Amino acid sequence: MEKTIALRVNGRAVSVTAMADTPLLYILRNDLALNGPKYGCGLGECGACTVILDGVAARSCVIPLAGAEGREVVTLEGLGSSSAPHPVQQAFIDEQAAQCGYCMNGMIMTAKALLDRNPTPTMDEVRRALSGNLCRCGTHVEILRAVMRAAR
Ligand code: FES
Repeated sequence: MEKTIALRVNGRAVSVTAMADTPLLYILRNDLALNGPKYGCGLGECGACTVILDGVAARSCVIPLAGAEGREVVTLEGLGSSSAPHPVQQAFIDEQAAQCGYCMNGMIMTAKALLDRNPTPTMDEVRRALSGNLCRCGTHVEILRAVMRAAR
């Protein structure tokens, strides 16, 4: 049965009527037209769908809509724009960290959540934080450099 669920997305109060077990990722992309989070595996394994949920990086493909009720969701669209990128996004641009770009949402959102709680991480801490985010092109070195640059 459908349910109306209220949450905040990128600082805005929204209310969505859908099946409570609909993955948050589908709601963000299909109902709210926020296409920053990507569908990769749909199983919580790749990180492409990462959003920040109450300050913590979370996989929106395995969070049911009901699990986001009353919570604060930040998507890539909530960071910066192409004309005014967030410093983390700018660092990824400066280091040319993207190849195909599909993993970028997850890398950037995970890095943002890390830097919010630890503004000066070591390379090891960055590596650990991003260890669950997969990049099939293999630009991991540039991605790590981008996060370290954003931390400066
Ligand atoms: Fe969510 Fe892969 S699409 S973790």
